[in-house]
Amino acid sequence: SLPVENVQALASKNPEDIPLRYFRPEVESDEIFVHGSLQIPVIDMNNFVIGQVGYDEELAKLHRACKEWGFFQLINHGASEAIEHMKVVTEEFFKLPLEEKMACAQVPNNIEGYGQAFVVSEDQKLDWGDMLFVLPLPASRRNMRFWPQNPASFKSTLEEYSSKLLNISMSLLELMAENLGANPEELTSKFEDCIQGMRMNYYPPCVHADKVMGITPHSDASGLTLLIQINEVEGLQIRKDCKWVPIEPIPGAIIVNIGDVLEIMSNGEYNSIEHRAVVNVEKERLSIAAFHSPNMEANFGPLLDLAAKQGAKYKTISVEDFLKLIVSRKLDGKSLLDHLRIT
Ligand code: SIN
Ligand code: FE2
Repeated sequence: SLPVENVQALASKNPEDIPLRYFRPEVESDEIFVHGSLQIPVIDMNNFVIGQVGYDEELAKLHRACKEWGFFQLINHGASEAIEHMKVVTEEFFKLPLEEKMACAQVPNNIEGYGQAFVVSEDQKLDWGDMLFVLPLPASRRNMRFWPQNPASFKSTLEEYSSKLLNISMSLLELMAENLGANPEELTSKFEDCIQGMRMNYYPPCVHADKVMGITPHSDASGLTLLIQINEVEGLQIRKDCKWVPIEPIPGAIIVNIGDVLEIMSNGEYNSIEHRAVVNVEKERLSIAAFHSPNMEANFGPLLDLAAKQGAKYKTISVEDFLKLIVSRKLDGKSLLDHLRIT
């Protein structure tokens, strides 16, 4: 990522005067569904205990959520404590003076660190937000220089959070494979020793909130993304029928979404939905996205049973080549998938 100004610092210095690179007057005319008129499904993890009354029904609900929305909220996930701890240390990190946060600053040719993501040219529009990105997994490849030393409990808290979210992701992947009529082992083995990326987002308030964007519309390149919002300030919107649906997070829930890798592996049965984050006029907003992708050595493509039945709709690619493709580009809707679709 090319180095750009720190948005948190920019916002506090000169709140009225937004540099042109952040200014996107066209977003003002985007159509947004009335708040609360449409909501993504809620999936209750409690129903996935084997033998539980309601298991089959919940499984069917999960399948519909993945097919029709690509997004759902997960409750009773068992990670509440880890989430609460993670929220605290993340807020503490972003509250530190800029010089202290810069101890984790991005360096050239590395996707980890504190800064902005996906800046590939001098003239592209910029997002109204800063982020800290680290790769907690695989643990063998951890790069501790990008993990905050302050707060002191950051490391142990992120480790706890990382392993809880990994477990939830693996459970969901298994259920999804069952729903797709594929061999669960084929799907979960790709995610053994998976790559887990953690993106902590800080969106400062903006007087011209309706003319900037916190995160450009994009689909996630990952397999499965687990997102939490740290404070009560909303901002996530997902694309539906050329309009945007504002998501109202249920307190304590995890927002789960299908990424490009799962769209490909499900042979298009599940959809990686475009989403974006808008910013607030008065309040800062914080969120954490955890991305789970197949391990570094894996190739992935449509699951064999699905490809055999339906014909493969996507090419098979190595994780290594896929990662190269991701980092060479700016965020741009769902266009990454155009490289892999078989037409
Ligand atoms: C993301 O898409 O990575 C972040 C979305 C959000 O901040 O809600
Ligand atoms: Fe995303």
